[in-house]
Amino acid sequence: MDARQMKIKAAEAALAHVEDGMRLGIGTGSTAEEFVRLLAEKVEAGLSVLGVPTSERTARLCVELGIPLRSLDELPELDLTIDGADELDARLRLIKGGGGALLREKIVATASARMIVIADESKVVDTLGAFKLPIEVNLFGLTATRIAIEKAAARCGLSGEIALRSTGDGAYTTDGGHLILDASFGRIPDAEALSDALYRIPGVVEHGLFIGIASLAVIAGPDGARVMT
Ligand code: 5RP
Repeated sequence: MDARQMKIKAAEAALAHVEDGMRLGIGTGSTAEEFVRLLAEKVEAGLSVLGVPTSERTARLCVELGIPLRSLDELPELDLTIDGADELDARLRLIKGGGGALLREKIVATASARMIVIADESKVVDTLGAFKLPIEVNLFGLTATRIAIEKAAARCGLSGEIALRSTGDGAYTTDGGHLILDASFGRIPDAEALSDALYRIPGVVEHGLFIGIASLAVIAGPDGARVMT
């Protein structure tokens, strides 16, 4: 089974949790897009759901495939969000934001009664942090915010390069008009402490540590999909 087939396997297993009439948060990234394609087939076949997309990219795909969408303001309470992750540990703590949609992803997932993560085995880690931690920041005071992040990380015993995400042509800008700093802290033994420390920095809009948000994960490997709770 290749990487794409594993994403499809995880997405298929998550689709079994989708019921008629659900208000659904729809994630961002290549795994979430496999879920969108499968969901579109169900919608075509008569399943009635309303989706709230976590990015403009996901919204475009949903529109293209005929999945009815609403804004989060129209549907502020959702039944279920299904989304990918860059890393997850055994306690279902996640790193997200590799696709740059972490702010909307966290808002939508938090507005949902349940969040199911879909991923392949390569995303499961003992300790979060091999993947660079995305931190969404305000443009104003970028350097001051970066220094504040370095100091906050140091208080948590962490250090490493903090790089401004680039498109190649310039700085990457999120759907919310912010910038992303990708922090190479390495292993993050106390994700809660780092999360709290980052939230205390005014220039930090959001960070990619999702703690206490996911309720279940469907992990696809070469032999099929397994569930983590
Ligand atoms: C986007 C995300 C994605 O869920 C994460 O990057 C995983 O993407 P993929 O399924 O392509 O590996 O957090 O902001």
